[in-house]
Amino acid sequence: MNLPDMNEAKKRHRENVEYIYTDVVKNNKYKDKKYFIKTYGCQMNVHDSEEISGLLENLGYTRVESELDADLIILNTCAIRENAHDKVFGFLGRCKHLKKDKKDIKIVLCGCMAQEKSVVDEILSKHKYIDLVLGTHNIHELPNYLTNLQDGLNIEVKSNEGNVYEIGENYHRDSKYTAWINIMYGCDKFCTYCIVPYTRGKERSRRSKDIIKEVMCLKEKGYKEVTLLGQNVNAYGTDNEEEMSFAELLENVAKTGIERIRFVTSHPWNFTDDMIDTIAKYDNIMPYIHLPLQSGSDRILKLMGRRYTQEEYIKLYKKIKEKVKNAAITTDIIVGFPNESDEDFNETLKVVEECQYDGAFTFIYSPREGTPAAKMSDSTPLSVKEERLQRLNEVVNKYSNMNNQKYLDKTVKVLLVGESEKDSNKLYGYTETMKLVNVECDKKLIGQIVDVKIAEAKSFSLDGYHEK
Ligand code: 5AD
Ligand code: SF4
Repeated sequence: MNLPDMNEAKKRHRENVEYIYTDVVKNNKYKDKKYFIKTYGCQMNVHDSEEISGLLENLGYTRVESELDADLIILNTCAIRENAHDKVFGFLGRCKHLKKDKKDIKIVLCGCMAQEKSVVDEILSKHKYIDLVLGTHNIHELPNYLTNLQDGLNIEVKSNEGNVYEIGENYHRDSKYTAWINIMYGCDKFCTYCIVPYTRGKERSRRSKDIIKEVMCLKEKGYKEVTLLGQNVNAYGTDNEEEMSFAELLENVAKTGIERIRFVTSHPWNFTDDMIDTIAKYDNIMPYIHLPLQSGSDRILKLMGRRYTQEEYIKLYKKIKEKVKNAAITTDIIVGFPNESDEDFNETLKVVEECQYDGAFTFIYSPREGTPAAKMSDSTPLSVKEERLQRLNEVVNKYSNMNNQKYLDKTVKVLLVGESEKDSNKLYGYTETMKLVNVECDKKLIGQIVDVKIAEAKSFSLDGYHEK
């Protein structure tokens, strides 16, 4: 297997920051123009959409909640599994119809799918009604591309990841209480099933001083919680010899005094003791860790290029549970990797039984063109994979329910972030351990961290009331 040399990445010290001034003078051309944005995929994409929205609003655009009212439709896409791809092309079909009645409407496809050569080829042959295809490495140039848009299909995709850029506080943040903060871009792990290293490029860390500045600025604005984002946050700083490690960054973020700090995602391979000690030491680092397992079988883990064994994973899991008080741990699991046998799958079930996760995102393996695993032959029928997924979900749900029951009659701290969708008399929020709670309380408390007594525990959420 051809894995990248990590020392090589470390040696690559670079002056890689560009500061972008996005205080574009509002252009009359965009006054009264409306944009609609649809986001697929992970938190990274959600945050990229906050950046895109900020850039568009700086130009003069106003956001609308339906594509039918828009002059500009942005699709921020995900490439992680085939079904994400199908959904995007389904939605594009509707956009094509809209364009028949409203010729001036502009359609932009950006995000991970834009970095896939096969997708660009498909667009060139069948979807020429799209106005702009924009890659993941040059989002910040969107205002320029829009201003200089040529008639027909414009393709602005860079294969080189280029520099890390800073746009200051020009994001349109969806929440006034919780904020995403990118700490790094890209991934050098090259797990054999995963397309992310190809669509997001090499690992590039932002400067810690810029990250801390962003946290301070959010704190001053009244934000209660920040989530540090990266495909693999443990690798923070390893691409720049002058930067600090992730454990040190976490410590520095904790010292800003912001009330809640979270981070996603950490790879079990280089989850250091320093990281665990720092999480345990600071009350404002939340005791919630997402620790993707992917498979419990050593044979499959090796084929996936995951760099740990079942035994090493469980050892790490136990160490975290032992050192971080009341930690909640969730995971990602893929079933049906090429030629996964019943024995391999049983090893995954065994780990789930042992770890008793608070929750798990479970997926059927989806071959992604250009990844090493997509070239592996696979004799397992889809029906077997579906049946395994169902069995896995039953075990996962059993433990997520069991863990939630432990909250019954307890009082927990909840950050209230919005009105409950199911019951407008209630607010919803999250515990320190990232449990979703619906809370009977005064609406004025939105944005506050309050004590909530848990009255009912379900598999995927808790119900409670504000304890004054
Ligand atoms: N097929 C299925 N699931 C995948 N993931 C990543 N690539 C694939 C793929 N090709 C899952 C992994 C990862 C999560 C974000 O998506 O579990 O942790
Ligand atoms: Fe993909 Fe995560 Fe592996 Fe990186 S560490 S290649 S993002 S699964």
